[in-house]
Amino acid sequence: MEHDIEKILITREQIENKARELGEMLKKDYEGKNPILLGILKGSVMFMADLMKHLDFSLEVDFMDVSSYYGTESTGIVKVKKDIDQDPKDRHIIIVEDIIDTGQTLYKIQNVLKERGAISVEIITLLDKPEARITNMKAKYVGFEIPKLFVVGYGLDYNEKYRNLPYVGILKECVYK
Ligand code: IMP
Ligand code: MG
Repeated sequence: MEHDIEKILITREQIENKARELGEMLKKDYEGKNPILLGILKGSVMFMADLMKHLDFSLEVDFMDVSSYYGTESTGIVKVKKDIDQDPKDRHIIIVEDIIDTGQTLYKIQNVLKERGAISVEIITLLDKPEARITNMKAKYVGFEIPKLFVVGYGLDYNEKYRNLPYVGILKECVYK
């Protein structure tokens, strides 16, 4: 698995420190509001687990699963595969994502939740690729901005592989070309 990685972009330590920092920000903004922490499957799970450890206030955890990616290209068609369990009406929702690329996935999810009456919908993302954006999506909380490269690890996959790498790395081009 490691042989397919060109270079480590962000280490586990960097991510763990960032999760603590972002956790403190979320605590300031959400303590007393009992928000729903909504992880987007499956890419967000490793980051979400780090983040949750630093959120020592009342909240609820939920997950949604959507698909829009095949291989290394976003298809633009977003399909809800698993919906949120709780009713988003009158709730504060914090969407936890692995990465924002074109922004189409989050655009769709955010709209669905607002239409159903959520009071607020904010986004926390481990990674952000601002150069790849084709929508006006913006995350309030961003771990790391990265260039327009295809990365894997720490939850992120290439055709379902590499999610278990304990760092974010750049995939060698020969793996997908
Ligand atoms: P968007 O809708 O184009 O913003 O795509 C967001 C989703 O595409 C993320 O939740 C990821 O699952 C996936 N994705 C985007 N860029 C990458 C990448 O570099 N590596 C792995 N998955 C990615
Ligand atoms: Mg994803």
